[in-house]
Amino acid sequence: MSQARPTSPDTSSTWEVPPGAPPEGQGAVVLTGLGLRGLTSIAYGGDYNPEQWPPQVWEEDVELMRQAGVNLVSLGIFSWVLLEPSEGRFTFDWLDRIMDMLHKAGIFVDLGTPTAVPPAWFFRAYPQARPVDREGHVLGGGYRQTFCPSSPEYAAAATRITEQLARRYGDHPALALWHVHNEYGQALASCYCPVSAAAFRRWLRARYADDLAALNEAWGTTFWGQCYSDWEEIEPPRLTPHVVNPSQQLDFMRFSSDELLKCFQAERDILHALSPGVPVTTNFQIANCKGLDYWRWASEVDVVSNDHYLQAERADNYIELAMCADLTRGAAGGRPWLLMEHSTSAVNWQPRNIAKRPREMRRNSLAHLARGANGVMFFQWRASRFGAEKFHSAMVPHGGTETRIWREVTELGADLATLSAKEPELLNTQVLADIAMVWDWESWWALELPWRPSVDLNYRERVEAYYTRLWHHGLTVDFVQPTGDLTRYPLVVVPSLYLTTQEAAANLTSYVDNGGTLLVSYFSGIVDEHDTIYPGSHPGALREVLGLKVEEFLPLRAGEQITVEPDIQADVWAEHIVPTGAEVVLRYLDGPAAGGPAVTRHRFGRGQAWYVSTRPDSAGLDSILRRVYADAGLAPRELPPNVEVVRRTGNGVSYLIAINHSDQDVTVLARGVEPLTGIRRDGTLPIPAGEVRILREE
Ligand code: GLA
Repeated sequence: MSQARPTSPDTSSTWEVPPGAPPEGQGAVVLTGLGLRGLTSIAYGGDYNPEQWPPQVWEEDVELMRQAGVNLVSLGIFSWVLLEPSEGRFTFDWLDRIMDMLHKAGIFVDLGTPTAVPPAWFFRAYPQARPVDREGHVLGGGYRQTFCPSSPEYAAAATRITEQLARRYGDHPALALWHVHNEYGQALASCYCPVSAAAFRRWLRARYADDLAALNEAWGTTFWGQCYSDWEEIEPPRLTPHVVNPSQQLDFMRFSSDELLKCFQAERDILHALSPGVPVTTNFQIANCKGLDYWRWASEVDVVSNDHYLQAERADNYIELAMCADLTRGAAGGRPWLLMEHSTSAVNWQPRNIAKRPREMRRNSLAHLARGANGVMFFQWRASRFGAEKFHSAMVPHGGTETRIWREVTELGADLATLSAKEPELLNTQVLADIAMVWDWESWWALELPWRPSVDLNYRERVEAYYTRLWHHGLTVDFVQPTGDLTRYPLVVVPSLYLTTQEAAANLTSYVDNGGTLLVSYFSGIVDEHDTIYPGSHPGALREVLGLKVEEFLPLRAGEQITVEPDIQADVWAEHIVPTGAEVVLRYLDGPAAGGPAVTRHRFGRGQAWYVSTRPDSAGLDSILRRVYADAGLAPRELPPNVEVVRRTGNGVSYLIAINHSDQDVTVLARGVEPLTGIRRDGTLPIPAGEVRILREE
């Protein structure tokens, strides 16, 4: 288990950068950037919706794109009705003209298949393709993504427009990438209509190998007398007087993710066949779209791309950004990925749409780059004058080019172009992570189904809490699947992995057995993939490796605070733990488990497994993590507050990207040359307040 280790604390305002050493095996990986056709620089641009503007604006757009350093635009994402104004009649001349204009200007195209918005004529002709929600409402038009994913009429129409686009533009010289649909699952993750119900039954027959008895067992249908004697009796989890069978709900979520994936795969296969050599993506909303199991999706796309919008009101929103970027890189298997959308300033759909402060957009963009993005794109190029998103910021704001946003857009474009020209190797580097964190969509789904021991159990909250502390400790996180390869990490953190398959449990157990340090938080290892509790005491799947039994869950009252020794404040959750090999590290001082173990450590094989059975506040979690690091041979990097430093390495080069989110000028220790200024740094790298510094290390 070899790993580049952070150095011990240095001083409060500096950080000694250890020499770059890629994780085992990683140095040998030869990446080829993003693999877009034709475009080898850092991608820069945004969603381009010229159909909202008269043709004279198109000329200005292209000229401004050149000024801003734009080299890639996403085109046609919502243009179905403009390309096929009535069934089977196609009008491509406007798109021909724009594709040619862009090509002449040296701008590449990420061409959308417009299947997120079927035209109004489609629903008039095929009303049965409208989606139905859980309550039985048929959903209407005027929005996007209002279609039934299982509809054969939708599939036929989507196939037709995709084939037309692929035949017409498949070898257009501007085409760099196909952008299928838009954010599958964003507005509509599931449909409950009769066609979807039939598709659900087909999916279940495949999952349970046509064995109805196996389904009855997996769903525990003897409970409340739900046994099925015919596949036709099974329904989606529609509105009922109360809670629907949780196993049924879980399978329906799996089905719904798979059903949308089938829509993607159908379009992708057409594009691969008719437009060979052009990669295909669809934009994810990682960690913010609960409905899709992106572990399954990620292997189906040629390029992983993600959309990220700040939770703008949060003061530390850049930590959530970092988490999403790291998770996207995890989905990309560590390879470079594309930031398909973020915003130059405010969005329009949050309760209070906070504008980005000067330089914030730059910090956000380069934070994505630091964490593995090889492209920085926005929604959208030019702000819309009408429609639902007219208050959303853009690269060209309503105020045009005499604006701060435009100046920041052009500056960023120039810097990315300089980086691409001077440091092409950057595009073939990978992020050097310190530790791993387990993430799982299925477990997220299962944990938050109704009737859990407490409404305060929240998957994403636990992940973020741990991630936030790790971020403040300057440690870079790789997100991995529960069954992923953990061997190269000195520490693996597992926040609330309620659903833990036997395979995942075996993986985590053998990781510890072989010398790893595991940290598990409460309500993990409880159920199998059917949401059935493992036999015996909790946490069945992890009992052995953790060396303990949880005799009883002791959820706390709303607002109830408890104390863990020496003076850690905690809330939400406690447990009655009986150690069966684990040592007690910290005990509850009060509350329902007073005197009992709160934090434990189990030496198992050559490693150790830690367990945190409550929700400590951030200072408490901080102190617990420091103990765990000692076992893992790690130490926090004592960076100045609210400064992040990430490293991309590979093929003998190493880049350090340092971002100062604070309003204080700071200095970190580093040696190398700043490509953007040519300045050599012989030991200290100053980072003014709010700025970003990129260094090619020596
Ligand atoms: C999503 C969509 C875009 C746009 C933005 C606005 O990410 O993909 O079309 O609606 O949100 O923030």
